Amino acid sequence: MDKNFNYSNLKLGIIGGGQLGKIMSQKAKKMGFHVTILDPTFNCPAAQVSDKHIIGDFHDSKKLEQLVQESDVTTFELEHVDTTVLKELYDNGHNIHPSPYVIELIQNKYEQKKLLDKKGIPIPAYKNVKKDEDLSAFGFPVIQKVKLGGYDGKGVQILRIEADLDKALPTESFIEELVDIDKELAIIVARNIEGEIKCYPVVEMLFDERINICDIVLAPANISKEIEKKSIEIAIASVKALEGVGIFGVELFLTSQGEILVNEIAPRPHNSGHYTVEACATSQFEQMIRAVTNLPLGSTKLISPAVMINVLGEEGYEGEPFIHGIHDTLEIPELSFHFYGKTFTKPFRKMGHITVLDDDINKALEKAMKAKDILKIKGSKKI
Ligand SMILES: Nc1ncnc2c1ncn2[C@@H]1O[C@H](COP(=O)(O)OP(=O)(O)OP(=O)(O)O)[C@@H](O)[C@H]1O
Ligand SMILES: [Mg+2]
Repeated sequence: MDKNFNYSNLKLGIIGGGQLGKIMSQKAKKMGFHVTILDPTFNCPAAQVSDKHIIGDFHDSKKLEQLVQESDVTTFELEHVDTTVLKELYDNGHNIHPSPYVIELIQNKYEQKKLLDKKGIPIPAYKNVKKDEDLSAFGFPVIQKVKLGGYDGKGVQILRIEADLDKALPTESFIEELVDIDKELAIIVARNIEGEIKCYPVVEMLFDERINICDIVLAPANISKEIEKKSIEIAIASVKALEGVGIFGVELFLTSQGEILVNEIAPRPHNSGHYTVEACATSQFEQMIRAVTNLPLGSTKLISPAVMINVLGEEGYEGEPFIHGIHDTLEIPELSFHFYGKTFTKPFRKMGHITVLDDDINKALEKAMKAKDILKIKGSKKI
């Protein structure tokens, strides 16, 4: 769309109606845009805050086409979608960003690795698994990853010893050296249609070891200026290599030897960028919308240090969610509570998040940990 486009009635289509689509939709509504989402679940989080909900699967080519036809610009909150019809529509001049070609490449973690490798981006050693013996090619321990469909640690398997080969995932996969990780870092990078690039601060992700889900995000990361500079350079180079338009969550490993390696790239707002809603001049969600609608990118300035904690469904429960401890939690100063509006909880499901600001990041962390202790999402049924 060109600069004379009338933004007062822009129709934005979002593929996916989870929490990322929800906050994206809220930011789009702030800018007065009309939002249609495509998601298979009635009353999903984004449906609660958008103008229109096309109920359909991400592999339903008719519904995908309907969304694109009805929208001035279509974007994504998730990458696991059928790109066939989207590529056709894109080739016929429809505005779809990031392009379905970029989405298709990122969907396949192995192809993604190959491209980054080809472009000289530092990544862990990896190898395609064509036959069973390939799983042992790096010795043990080793990481096995499925090529397609993995998220939140599903599709990542650590094989510690040879006997663990029994536990190997029986789908198309590749192996990766087990990196000796000092810190897991992430950077949100925005790139708009004109190729303008802006980076958010480098953040540190802490993981819940039981489930491999990113649990806590510290913004900014406690790293040296040198590591920060190197991380930003690598993240920008990665997004340039993809030539994508939108927001990209670049996940990095800082190794014990002080090396920076790219783990993977998400072509959409990322969990590690939730803090930007309260802590940055422009949130990652608004930034995505600016990028895909050919508007200038906003400032990525960090206004305050922040800590973000995912609020996961409590273990041992499922069903209709009940929020325990909300009153005591909201007594904590500079705390912002997000509940996604999912109508069903189960153990470790991402149900919401909190962001805590403080001039002193250690104090922000203290307050966030206190909230984590108090706030529980339990389901109506014990399991
Ligand atoms: N090569 C590796 N060496 C050591 N640890 C690794 C390696 N690859 C992945 N991990 C660990 O597993 C986690 C999940 O891996 P990855 O990001 O590839 O999977 P995912 O399913 O896409 O997860 P998410 O959706 O949370 O990003 C990483 O954040 C890291 O903690
Ligand atoms: Mg990951």
